Amino acid sequence: MYSIEKLQALEKQFGSPIYLFREEDFVKNYKEFVACFNKYYSKYQLAYSYKTNYTPAICKLVKSLGGYAEVVSDMEYSVARAVGYEPYQIVYNGPFKKELGKETLLNGGIINVDNLEELKNICKIADENPDKNLEIGIRVNINIGQHFISRFGIDTDSPDLQKAFDMVAAVKNLEVVGLHCHVGQSRTVEAWSNRATIMLALADKYFPNKAPKFIDMGSGMFARMEESLAKQFGDNIPTFEDYAKTVAVPFAEHYKHLSQEEKPILMTEPGTTVINSYIDFIGKVESIKHIKGHEFVVLNCSKDNLGDICKMKKMPLQIVHVNKEQEMLNEAEFVGYTCLEHDVMYPDYKGSLGVGDYVIFGNVGGYSNVSKPPFIFWNCPMIGQKADGSCYVMKKGETFEDVFTTYVI
Ligand SMILES: Cc1ncc(COP(=O)(O)O)c(C=O)c1O
Repeated sequence: MYSIEKLQALEKQFGSPIYLFREEDFVKNYKEFVACFNKYYSKYQLAYSYKTNYTPAICKLVKSLGGYAEVVSDMEYSVARAVGYEPYQIVYNGPFKKELGKETLLNGGIINVDNLEELKNICKIADENPDKNLEIGIRVNINIGQHFISRFGIDTDSPDLQKAFDMVAAVKNLEVVGLHCHVGQSRTVEAWSNRATIMLALADKYFPNKAPKFIDMGSGMFARMEESLAKQFGDNIPTFEDYAKTVAVPFAEHYKHLSQEEKPILMTEPGTTVINSYIDFIGKVESIKHIKGHEFVVLNCSKDNLGDICKMKKMPLQIVHVNKEQEMLNEAEFVGYTCLEHDVMYPDYKGSLGVGDYVIFGNVGGYSNVSKPPFIFWNCPMIGQKADGSCYVMKKGETFEDVFTTYVI
Protein backbone atom coordinates (compact mmCIF):
# COMPACT_ATOMS: atom_id res chain seq x y z
CA MET A 1 0.00 0.00 0.00
CA TYR A 2 1.31 3.41 -0.93
CA SER A 3 1.09 6.39 1.40
CA ILE A 4 0.37 9.86 0.09
CA GLU A 5 3.79 11.03 1.34
CA LYS A 6 5.57 8.28 -0.60
CA LEU A 7 3.63 9.04 -3.78
CA GLN A 8 4.23 12.77 -3.54
CA ALA A 9 7.94 12.20 -2.95
CA LEU A 10 8.10 9.92 -6.00
CA GLU A 11 6.27 12.44 -8.13
CA LYS A 12 8.53 15.26 -6.99
CA GLN A 13 11.62 13.27 -7.87
CA PHE A 14 10.55 11.43 -11.02
CA GLY A 15 7.35 13.05 -12.31
CA SER A 16 4.10 11.29 -13.13
CA PRO A 17 3.21 8.69 -14.33
CA ILE A 18 5.86 6.07 -13.52
CA TYR A 19 6.39 2.34 -13.37
CA LEU A 20 7.63 1.25 -9.96
CA PHE A 21 9.62 -1.98 -9.61
CA ARG A 22 9.62 -3.40 -6.08
CA GLU A 23 13.03 -5.02 -6.03
CA GLU A 24 12.94 -6.63 -2.61
CA ASP A 25 9.61 -8.40 -3.26
CA PHE A 26 10.82 -9.54 -6.68
CA VAL A 27 13.99 -11.06 -5.23
CA LYS A 28 12.12 -12.79 -2.42
CA ASN A 29 9.59 -14.31 -4.82
CA TYR A 30 12.34 -15.32 -7.27
CA LYS A 31 14.36 -17.11 -4.59
CA GLU A 32 11.31 -18.91 -3.28
CA PHE A 33 10.40 -20.05 -6.79
CA VAL A 34 13.87 -21.49 -7.41
CA ALA A 35 14.05 -23.06 -3.95
CA CYS A 36 10.81 -24.99 -4.62
CA PHE A 37 12.28 -26.63 -7.72
CA ASN A 38 15.70 -27.23 -6.16
CA LYS A 39 14.08 -28.95 -3.22
CA TYR A 40 12.83 -31.80 -5.43
CA TYR A 41 15.44 -31.87 -8.19
CA SER A 42 18.90 -30.57 -7.52
CA LYS A 43 19.78 -29.85 -11.13
CA TYR A 44 17.26 -27.10 -11.81
CA GLN A 45 18.08 -24.01 -13.86
CA LEU A 46 15.85 -20.99 -14.36
CA ALA A 47 16.07 -19.09 -17.66
CA TYR A 48 14.23 -15.77 -17.43
CA SER A 49 11.93 -15.03 -20.35
CA TYR A 50 13.17 -11.73 -21.77
CA LYS A 51 10.12 -11.04 -23.90
CA THR A 52 8.05 -10.66 -20.76
CA ASN A 53 10.15 -7.75 -19.57
CA TYR A 54 13.67 -7.19 -20.84
CA THR A 55 14.36 -4.04 -18.83
CA PRO A 56 18.15 -4.40 -18.47
CA ALA A 57 18.18 -3.64 -14.73
CA ILE A 58 15.81 -6.59 -14.18
CA CYS A 59 17.90 -8.83 -16.44
CA LYS A 60 21.01 -7.88 -14.47
CA LEU A 61 19.28 -8.67 -11.21
CA VAL A 62 18.21 -12.06 -12.54
CA LYS A 63 21.82 -12.70 -13.57
CA SER A 64 23.03 -11.84 -10.08
CA LEU A 65 20.53 -14.39 -8.73
CA GLY A 66 21.94 -17.13 -10.96
CA GLY A 67 19.26 -17.10 -13.68
CA TYR A 68 20.00 -17.69 -17.34
CA ALA A 69 18.54 -15.54 -20.12
CA GLU A 70 15.82 -16.93 -22.39
CA VAL A 71 15.72 -14.88 -25.57
CA VAL A 72 13.79 -15.13 -28.83
CA SER A 73 15.44 -12.58 -31.08
CA ASP A 74 18.77 -10.99 -31.88
CA MET A 75 17.53 -7.92 -30.05
CA GLU A 76 16.93 -9.83 -26.84
CA TYR A 77 20.19 -11.74 -27.29
CA SER A 78 21.96 -8.38 -27.47
CA VAL A 79 20.35 -7.30 -24.19
CA ALA A 80 21.60 -10.49 -22.53
CA ARG A 81 25.12 -9.84 -23.79
CA ALA A 82 24.92 -6.18 -22.77
CA VAL A 83 24.13 -7.11 -19.16
CA GLY A 84 27.08 -9.48 -19.06
CA TYR A 85 25.82 -12.94 -19.99
CA GLU A 86 28.17 -15.40 -21.64
CA PRO A 87 26.61 -17.37 -24.51
CA TYR A 88 26.47 -20.59 -22.45
CA GLN A 89 24.05 -18.83 -20.08
CA ILE A 90 21.72 -17.82 -22.91
CA VAL A 91 18.87 -19.97 -24.20
CA TYR A 92 17.97 -18.82 -27.69
CA ASN A 93 14.44 -19.93 -28.70
CA GLY A 94 11.93 -18.83 -31.27
CA PRO A 95 11.17 -19.28 -34.95
CA PHE A 96 13.18 -16.27 -36.15
CA LYS A 97 16.82 -16.36 -35.19
CA LYS A 98 19.05 -14.09 -37.19
CA GLU A 99 22.83 -13.62 -37.27
CA LEU A 100 23.26 -13.81 -33.50
CA GLY A 101 21.67 -17.25 -33.50
CA LYS A 102 24.81 -18.36 -35.33
CA GLU A 103 26.96 -16.62 -32.72
CA THR A 104 25.09 -18.44 -29.95
CA LEU A 105 25.58 -21.76 -31.70
CA LEU A 106 29.29 -21.27 -32.38
CA ASN A 107 30.01 -20.10 -28.85
CA GLY A 108 28.34 -22.75 -26.73
CA GLY A 109 24.99 -21.06 -26.21
CA ILE A 110 21.84 -23.12 -25.88
CA ILE A 111 19.94 -22.93 -29.12
CA ASN A 112 16.58 -24.63 -29.40
CA VAL A 113 15.69 -25.34 -33.01
CA ASP A 114 12.13 -24.53 -34.00
CA ASN A 115 11.83 -26.04 -37.47
CA LEU A 116 13.52 -28.12 -40.17
CA GLU A 117 14.48 -25.12 -42.27
CA GLU A 118 16.41 -23.71 -39.34
CA LEU A 119 17.98 -27.10 -38.77
CA LYS A 120 19.12 -27.31 -42.39
CA ASN A 121 20.92 -24.02 -41.90
CA ILE A 122 22.52 -25.24 -38.67
CA CYS A 123 23.78 -28.39 -40.42
CA LYS A 124 25.37 -26.10 -43.00
CA ILE A 125 27.02 -23.98 -40.30
CA ALA A 126 28.38 -27.17 -38.72
CA ASP A 127 29.81 -28.24 -42.09
CA GLU A 128 31.47 -24.86 -42.49
CA ASN A 129 33.03 -25.12 -39.02
CA PRO A 130 34.48 -28.64 -38.94
CA ASP A 131 36.84 -27.77 -36.06
CA LYS A 132 33.91 -27.05 -33.71
CA ASN A 133 31.62 -29.53 -32.01
CA LEU A 134 28.19 -27.95 -32.00
CA GLU A 135 25.27 -28.76 -29.73
CA ILE A 136 21.60 -27.94 -30.10
CA GLY A 137 18.25 -28.53 -28.47
CA ILE A 138 15.04 -29.21 -30.35
CA ARG A 139 11.75 -27.57 -29.52
CA VAL A 140 9.07 -30.22 -29.71
CA ASN A 141 5.45 -29.48 -30.44
CA ILE A 142 3.43 -31.51 -27.97
CA ASN A 143 -0.19 -31.71 -26.97
CA ILE A 144 -0.73 -31.45 -23.24
CA GLY A 145 -4.49 -31.12 -23.50
CA GLN A 146 -4.61 -27.54 -24.72
CA HIS A 147 -7.53 -26.53 -26.94
CA PHE A 148 -5.49 -25.17 -29.81
CA ILE A 149 -2.73 -26.30 -32.14
CA SER A 150 0.49 -24.54 -31.34
CA ARG A 151 2.57 -23.34 -34.29
CA PHE A 152 5.90 -23.71 -32.52
CA GLY A 153 8.45 -26.49 -32.57
CA ILE A 154 8.68 -29.75 -34.49
CA ASP A 155 5.61 -31.98 -34.39
CA THR A 156 6.11 -35.09 -32.29
CA ASP A 157 3.19 -36.71 -34.12
CA SER A 158 4.78 -36.45 -37.55
CA PRO A 159 7.88 -38.06 -39.09
CA ASP A 160 9.54 -34.62 -38.91
CA LEU A 161 10.99 -35.18 -35.46
CA GLN A 162 12.77 -38.39 -36.41
CA LYS A 163 13.87 -36.67 -39.60
CA ALA A 164 15.40 -33.89 -37.49
CA PHE A 165 17.38 -36.38 -35.39
CA ASP A 166 18.47 -38.17 -38.60
CA MET A 167 19.63 -34.92 -40.17
CA VAL A 168 21.78 -34.19 -37.14
CA ALA A 169 23.14 -37.73 -36.98
CA ALA A 170 24.43 -37.27 -40.52
CA VAL A 171 26.62 -34.35 -39.45
CA LYS A 172 29.61 -35.55 -37.46
CA ASN A 173 30.28 -32.38 -35.44
CA LEU A 174 26.62 -31.70 -34.52
CA GLU A 175 24.67 -33.25 -31.66
CA VAL A 176 21.18 -32.86 -30.19
CA VAL A 177 21.71 -32.53 -26.45
CA GLY A 178 18.37 -31.21 -25.25
CA LEU A 179 14.63 -31.01 -25.68
CA HIS A 180 12.48 -27.94 -25.27
CA CYS A 181 8.76 -27.29 -25.12
CA HIS A 182 6.53 -24.38 -24.27
CA VAL A 183 2.76 -24.39 -24.39
CA GLY A 184 0.94 -21.16 -23.71
CA GLN A 185 -2.43 -20.72 -22.02
CA SER A 186 -2.02 -23.98 -20.10
CA ARG A 187 -1.24 -23.13 -16.51
CA THR A 188 -2.97 -25.92 -14.63
CA VAL A 189 -1.17 -28.58 -12.62
CA GLU A 190 -2.68 -31.23 -14.93
CA ALA A 191 -1.11 -29.50 -17.93
CA TRP A 192 2.26 -29.53 -16.15
CA SER A 193 1.89 -33.16 -15.20
CA ASN A 194 1.26 -33.94 -18.89
CA ARG A 195 4.28 -31.86 -19.92
CA ALA A 196 6.50 -33.84 -17.55
CA THR A 197 5.20 -37.25 -18.64
CA ILE A 198 5.48 -36.45 -22.34
CA MET A 199 8.91 -34.81 -22.15
CA LEU A 200 10.39 -37.66 -20.10
CA ALA A 201 9.00 -40.21 -22.58
CA LEU A 202 10.46 -38.24 -25.49
CA ALA A 203 13.81 -38.04 -23.73
CA ASP A 204 13.81 -41.83 -23.34
CA LYS A 205 12.82 -42.36 -26.96
CA TYR A 206 15.28 -39.99 -28.58
CA PHE A 207 18.17 -40.38 -26.13
CA PRO A 208 18.18 -44.14 -25.57
CA ASN A 209 21.83 -44.43 -24.55
CA LYS A 210 22.50 -41.34 -22.53
CA ALA A 211 20.10 -38.83 -20.95
CA PRO A 212 19.99 -35.44 -22.65
CA LYS A 213 22.00 -32.60 -21.13
CA PHE A 214 18.84 -30.58 -20.55
CA ILE A 215 15.09 -30.76 -20.72
CA ASP A 216 13.61 -27.30 -20.96
CA MET A 217 9.93 -27.16 -20.05
CA GLY A 218 9.29 -23.53 -21.05
CA SER A 219 6.86 -21.81 -18.79
CA GLY A 220 3.15 -21.21 -18.33
CA MET A 221 2.58 -21.04 -14.60
CA PHE A 222 0.43 -18.72 -12.57
CA ALA A 223 2.27 -16.02 -10.69
CA ARG A 224 1.54 -15.17 -7.12
CA MET A 225 -0.94 -12.37 -7.30
CA GLU A 226 -3.32 -10.24 -5.31
CA GLU A 227 -6.49 -11.97 -4.25
CA SER A 228 -8.71 -9.64 -6.28
CA LEU A 229 -6.92 -10.73 -9.45
CA ALA A 230 -6.51 -14.39 -8.49
CA LYS A 231 -10.29 -14.71 -8.07
CA GLN A 232 -10.75 -13.73 -11.70
CA PHE A 233 -8.69 -16.75 -12.76
CA GLY A 234 -10.83 -19.15 -10.72
CA ASP A 235 -10.52 -20.80 -7.37
CA ASN A 236 -7.60 -23.11 -7.79
CA ILE A 237 -4.44 -21.23 -8.58
CA PRO A 238 -1.54 -23.63 -8.06
CA THR A 239 1.33 -22.59 -5.82
CA PHE A 240 5.00 -22.75 -6.84
CA GLU A 241 5.23 -25.77 -4.56
CA ASP A 242 2.42 -27.48 -6.52
CA TYR A 243 4.18 -26.89 -9.83
CA ALA A 244 7.58 -27.93 -8.50
CA LYS A 245 6.20 -31.17 -7.10
CA THR A 246 4.37 -31.93 -10.33
CA VAL A 247 7.45 -31.51 -12.49
CA ALA A 248 10.54 -32.00 -10.38
CA VAL A 249 9.40 -35.10 -8.48
CA PRO A 250 8.84 -37.16 -11.67
CA PHE A 251 12.22 -35.95 -12.93
CA ALA A 252 13.92 -37.00 -9.71
CA GLU A 253 12.22 -40.39 -9.84
CA HIS A 254 12.93 -40.92 -13.53
CA TYR A 255 16.63 -40.16 -13.21
CA LYS A 256 17.31 -41.48 -9.73
CA HIS A 257 19.65 -44.19 -11.11
CA LEU A 258 21.91 -41.55 -12.69
CA SER A 259 24.79 -39.72 -11.05
CA GLN A 260 24.49 -35.98 -10.58
CA GLU A 261 26.78 -35.53 -13.55
CA GLU A 262 24.61 -37.69 -15.82
CA LYS A 263 21.24 -36.24 -14.83
CA PRO A 264 19.75 -33.75 -17.27
CA ILE A 265 19.31 -30.16 -16.22
CA LEU A 266 15.64 -29.41 -15.67
CA MET A 267 14.99 -25.94 -16.99
CA THR A 268 11.94 -23.70 -16.93
CA GLU A 269 11.57 -20.26 -18.46
CA PRO A 270 9.39 -18.15 -16.20
CA GLY A 271 8.42 -14.70 -17.31
CA THR A 272 5.10 -13.49 -15.96
CA THR A 273 5.52 -15.94 -13.08
CA VAL A 274 8.42 -14.03 -11.65
CA ILE A 275 7.88 -10.45 -12.79
CA ASN A 276 4.16 -9.67 -13.06
CA SER A 277 3.36 -8.85 -9.46
CA TYR A 278 6.42 -6.71 -8.79
CA ILE A 279 5.86 -3.74 -11.04
CA ASP A 280 3.14 -1.22 -10.24
CA PHE A 281 2.01 1.64 -12.40
CA ILE A 282 1.36 4.95 -10.67
CA GLY A 283 -0.75 7.45 -12.59
CA LYS A 284 -3.05 10.34 -11.74
CA VAL A 285 -6.55 11.56 -12.44
CA GLU A 286 -6.55 14.35 -15.04
CA SER A 287 -10.28 14.96 -15.30
CA ILE A 288 -13.64 13.47 -14.46
CA LYS A 289 -16.32 13.71 -17.13
CA HIS A 290 -20.03 13.00 -17.10
CA ILE A 291 -21.40 12.33 -20.55
CA LYS A 292 -24.97 11.25 -21.25
CA GLY A 293 -25.22 9.44 -17.94
CA HIS A 294 -21.74 7.84 -18.20
CA GLU A 295 -18.78 8.55 -15.94
CA PHE A 296 -15.31 8.78 -17.47
CA VAL A 297 -12.13 9.30 -15.49
CA VAL A 298 -9.28 10.46 -17.73
CA LEU A 299 -5.85 9.41 -16.47
CA ASN A 300 -2.40 10.66 -17.47
CA CYS A 301 -1.58 7.25 -18.95
CA SER A 302 -3.01 4.72 -21.37
CA LYS A 303 -3.89 1.05 -21.71
CA ASP A 304 -0.65 0.87 -23.69
CA ASN A 305 1.31 1.54 -20.48
CA LEU A 306 -0.36 -1.36 -18.69
CA GLY A 307 -0.43 -3.97 -21.44
CA ASP A 308 -3.12 -6.37 -22.62
CA ILE A 309 -3.92 -7.66 -19.14
CA CYS A 310 -6.10 -4.60 -18.50
CA LYS A 311 -8.33 -5.61 -21.42
CA MET A 312 -8.82 -9.08 -20.01
CA LYS A 313 -8.96 -8.61 -16.25
CA LYS A 314 -9.73 -5.98 -13.68
CA MET A 315 -6.33 -4.87 -12.49
CA PRO A 316 -5.51 -4.69 -8.80
CA LEU A 317 -6.20 -1.06 -7.97
CA GLN A 318 -5.29 1.35 -5.20
CA ILE A 319 -6.57 4.91 -5.05
CA VAL A 320 -4.82 7.49 -2.90
CA HIS A 321 -6.82 10.68 -2.48
CA VAL A 322 -5.05 13.99 -2.77
CA ASN A 323 -7.87 16.31 -3.75
CA LYS A 324 -10.08 17.52 -0.92
CA GLU A 325 -12.97 17.82 -3.38
CA GLN A 326 -14.13 14.29 -3.98
CA GLU A 327 -17.13 13.12 -5.92
CA MET A 328 -18.91 9.82 -5.59
CA LEU A 329 -18.73 7.68 -8.71
CA ASN A 330 -20.85 4.61 -9.36
CA GLU A 331 -19.55 2.92 -12.49
CA ALA A 332 -16.70 5.02 -13.83
CA GLU A 333 -14.48 3.94 -16.71
CA PHE A 334 -10.81 4.83 -16.28
CA VAL A 335 -9.71 5.92 -19.72
CA GLY A 336 -6.40 6.97 -21.24
CA TYR A 337 -4.78 9.86 -23.03
CA THR A 338 -5.04 8.34 -26.50
CA CYS A 339 -7.88 9.33 -28.78
CA LEU A 340 -9.11 5.76 -28.93
CA GLU A 341 -12.57 5.05 -27.59
CA HIS A 342 -11.37 1.64 -26.36
CA ASP A 343 -8.45 3.01 -24.35
CA VAL A 344 -9.97 1.70 -21.11
CA MET A 345 -7.83 0.69 -18.15
CA TYR A 346 -10.50 -0.11 -15.62
CA PRO A 347 -14.15 -0.70 -16.49
CA ASP A 348 -16.27 0.11 -13.46
CA TYR A 349 -14.80 2.02 -10.55
CA LYS A 350 -17.15 2.69 -7.66
CA GLY A 351 -16.08 5.08 -4.93
CA SER A 352 -14.99 8.61 -4.31
CA LEU A 353 -12.43 10.33 -6.51
CA GLY A 354 -10.99 13.75 -7.22
CA VAL A 355 -8.81 15.30 -9.92
CA GLY A 356 -5.14 14.84 -8.98
CA ASP A 357 -5.75 11.64 -6.98
CA TYR A 358 -3.21 8.87 -7.47
CA VAL A 359 -4.31 5.67 -9.23
CA ILE A 360 -2.04 2.68 -8.75
CA PHE A 361 -2.40 -0.42 -10.91
CA GLY A 362 -0.70 -3.58 -9.71
CA ASN A 363 0.52 -6.56 -11.69
CA VAL A 364 1.95 -4.72 -14.68
CA GLY A 365 5.33 -6.51 -14.78
CA GLY A 366 4.78 -8.50 -17.95
CA TYR A 367 4.23 -7.19 -21.50
CA SER A 368 3.86 -3.62 -20.29
CA ASN A 369 6.77 -1.24 -20.91
CA VAL A 370 8.27 -3.66 -23.46
CA SER A 371 5.01 -3.77 -25.42
CA LYS A 372 4.30 -0.04 -25.25
CA PRO A 373 4.09 1.48 -28.74
CA PRO A 374 5.08 5.11 -29.22
CA PHE A 375 1.48 5.68 -30.32
CA ILE A 376 0.60 9.31 -29.64
CA PHE A 377 2.95 9.64 -26.67
CA TRP A 378 6.38 8.46 -25.54
CA ASN A 379 6.75 6.25 -22.51
CA CYS A 380 7.28 7.29 -18.91
CA PRO A 381 10.20 6.32 -16.61
CA MET A 382 10.61 3.11 -14.67
CA ILE A 383 11.83 3.49 -11.13
CA GLY A 384 13.27 0.77 -8.93
CA GLN A 385 12.69 0.75 -5.20
CA LYS A 386 15.21 -0.96 -2.95
CA ALA A 387 14.56 -2.71 0.36
CA ASP A 388 15.45 0.43 2.30
CA GLY A 389 12.92 2.47 0.30
CA SER A 390 15.51 4.34 -1.75
CA CYS A 391 14.76 4.67 -5.45
CA TYR A 392 16.77 4.64 -8.66
CA VAL A 393 16.04 5.12 -12.36
CA MET A 394 15.80 1.89 -14.38
CA LYS A 395 14.50 3.50 -17.55
CA LYS A 396 14.45 7.20 -18.23
CA GLY A 397 11.30 8.87 -19.45
CA GLU A 398 11.36 8.93 -23.24
CA THR A 399 11.72 12.13 -25.21
CA PHE A 400 10.99 13.38 -28.70
CA GLU A 401 14.47 12.22 -29.80
CA ASP A 402 13.90 8.67 -28.55
CA VAL A 403 10.89 8.29 -30.77
CA PHE A 404 11.94 10.31 -33.79
CA THR A 405 15.67 9.70 -34.37
CA THR A 406 14.97 6.94 -36.88
CA TYR A 407 12.54 9.10 -38.85
CA VAL A 408 13.99 11.39 -41.47
CA ILE A 409 12.87 14.92 -40.68
C1 LIG B 1 9.25 -19.97 -25.24
C2 LIG B 1 8.68 -19.27 -24.05
N1 LIG B 1 9.25 -19.45 -22.84
C3 LIG B 1 8.78 -18.82 -21.74
C4 LIG B 1 7.69 -17.95 -21.80
C5 LIG B 1 7.23 -17.29 -20.55
O1 LIG B 1 6.09 -17.88 -20.04
P1 LIG B 1 5.38 -17.34 -18.71
O2 LIG B 1 5.23 -15.89 -18.87
O3 LIG B 1 4.08 -18.07 -18.70
O4 LIG B 1 6.24 -17.69 -17.56
C6 LIG B 1 7.07 -17.74 -23.04
C7 LIG B 1 5.90 -16.86 -23.12
O5 LIG B 1 5.15 -16.82 -24.05
C8 LIG B 1 7.57 -18.41 -24.19
O6 LIG B 1 7.02 -18.22 -25.41
